[in-house]
Amino acid sequence: MTETINPEERDAVLLVAKSAFAAAPYADMERIAASVAARRPGVLVRFGFTEQGMPSLRDALRELVGQRVARVTLVPLVLPMEPSFDTWLKKSVRRWQSEDGRDWPEVSVAGRISESPHLADLVEALLEASSSLERATRLNSPVEGSLVPAQKRRVLVCQGGACNMAGAEAIWCHLRNQQVRQKLRVTGDGTMTAKSTCLGPCNLAPVVQVFPEGTYYGGVTEAAIDRIISEHLLGGSVVEAFAYHPTGRKQRLRTPL
Ligand code: FES
Repeated sequence: MTETINPEERDAVLLVAKSAFAAAPYADMERIAASVAARRPGVLVRFGFTEQGMPSLRDALRELVGQRVARVTLVPLVLPMEPSFDTWLKKSVRRWQSEDGRDWPEVSVAGRISESPHLADLVEALLEASSSLERATRLNSPVEGSLVPAQKRRVLVCQGGACNMAGAEAIWCHLRNQQVRQKLRVTGDGTMTAKSTCLGPCNLAPVVQVFPEGTYYGGVTEAAIDRIISEHLLGGSVVEAFAYHPTGRKQRLRTPL
């Protein structure tokens, strides 16, 4: 007789990766998830990306919440891991939880790869599988031309210290995924997105700036990004609920309308 597991007693493992632009790294994650699942029968194993790639970590986590599992353990597959990544991860999970009306499972974070005693064994195994690079036949690659993009809009997502602490990584991830989903590069005026160093108004973190108007948005969340895309990038209207205009005086974050 097959044992039935009550979903509310079920554990889940969520593998956290940075990004996957192509099919091959996505397939890598599927393979890793499948091998973890094979070692842990009855445990749901999923993965999510903190930068570009689908599902985003937020979506993967929300899906597990929908499955009503008892516990989720996040396993960051990140090496090396900046101290700010760990802080960002915990802060983002708390924020996503506070924005979600559902009951959440217990969430914990696994240890770091860099502190694992098995890391040296892994390096040994990789060394055994090494292969020689072909000798280069010429030093210079042929000069190729490039298309000049037609985009008229650019969104800068601040990655300065204050913004990173306030969740800028998740904002970047969400924007890039939406850029792909909604074909923003070739829709409307065409939008390019880029990370930037500090944009200036750090106390309004996380901050993004939309050009050509140069509009500053502060306290940006994933929901704010959705509105900025539909109303500003595609509709041409500034989203005043999140916008901060130059006034010559210091401004504080306000609760969005
Ligand atoms: S760190 Fe983002 S505006 Fe300064």
